[in-house]
Amino acid sequence: MKRVFSGVQPTGNIHLGNYLGALKQFVELQEDHECIYCIVDMHAITVPQDPKVLKEHILDVAALYLAVGVDPEKSIVFVQSDVPGHAELSWILTCNSYTGELSRMTQFKDKSKNKESAPAGLFTYPILMAADILLYDTDVVPVGNDQKQHIELCRDLAIRVNGKYPDTFVIPDGRFLKEGARIMALDDPSKKMSKSAENIHSRISLLDDPAKIKKSIMKATTDSEGVIRFDTENKPGISNLLNIYSVLSGISIADLEKKYEGKGYGDFKKDLVEVTVKALTPIRERFEEIRNSEELIRILREGAGKADAIAKKTIERVKGNFGLGL
Ligand code: AMP
Ligand code: TRP
Repeated sequence: MKRVFSGVQPTGNIHLGNYLGALKQFVELQEDHECIYCIVDMHAITVPQDPKVLKEHILDVAALYLAVGVDPEKSIVFVQSDVPGHAELSWILTCNSYTGELSRMTQFKDKSKNKESAPAGLFTYPILMAADILLYDTDVVPVGNDQKQHIELCRDLAIRVNGKYPDTFVIPDGRFLKEGARIMALDDPSKKMSKSAENIHSRISLLDDPAKIKKSIMKATTDSEGVIRFDTENKPGISNLLNIYSVLSGISIADLEKKYEGKGYGDFKKDLVEVTVKALTPIRERFEEIRNSEELIRILREGAGKADAIAKKTIERVKGNFGLGL
């Protein structure tokens, strides 16, 4: 069986973009892959964090993994900092990375823009991500499209190290969804839906109640043409809503265009509210059941134990190949 690894940062506001771009694939993959899903708390501290809030967010994301259908009987779920191998491998990879390639990462450029100086962790963030992936001899990494550049870097590092130290790493592949891979902000479809946008109506969080979902969708930016047609170039707002509708309902975009021929944006949005509420209600209910349970802690502890056992073997192999340690 091929091995899958992916991670989500423990921040609040996990949204529809995270779900459709990443989490939904996590659930599908566990049927025929050996899956490892991580809450990447060490990535989170590349920007300032309040310790109490961080702890809550770690548990929120863990509970959300389970609420969307990640099954701890099938998949390993754990918190990154509970397995020391991530930091160890990250250093070894740092010594094989170039400042030039890290400077080209668009996420780093965005996050450090207009700042006099940025934390070095923000700069080396993609190396820690590569360590996450390579530590588990991962074959497949399901992520949203925005992570393409990071996956490429991970592959480059693995290939480079293997060139110097043969058979050190398995070379992973990214897995990007075409449809739904990039969900845009509801208030500004030129930007991707994000956890950090100030306007809460720019996103639908997975834990939003029906009233909030309705308000955000009804307010979503469209255009003045009044025709429901997929055209990201000229109709980015409607195209984004069509995309969301399609992935949540399983109806193709072409069929949706037919279904709404001659109808207005109001009708379309009302139906989209219904589809979205139907998809998210069971997730919210399951989340509430598990979020404060003992079971959640037990699952994360067990997950860390299993992940650590795999990680230790990789670290031994890597250290051996590099001539490190005794
Ligand atoms: P992040 O919010 O950056 O921690 O991302 C968690 C996961 O969700 C990653 O796999 C991202 O690629 C994915 N993701 C984040 N925002 C979006 C979006 N607007 N559309 C699709 N996928 C997204
Ligand atoms: N950088 C990813 C994001 O922001 C999160 C992440 C960290 C990740 N480590 C990973 C994703 C390893 C996949 C595999 O979305």
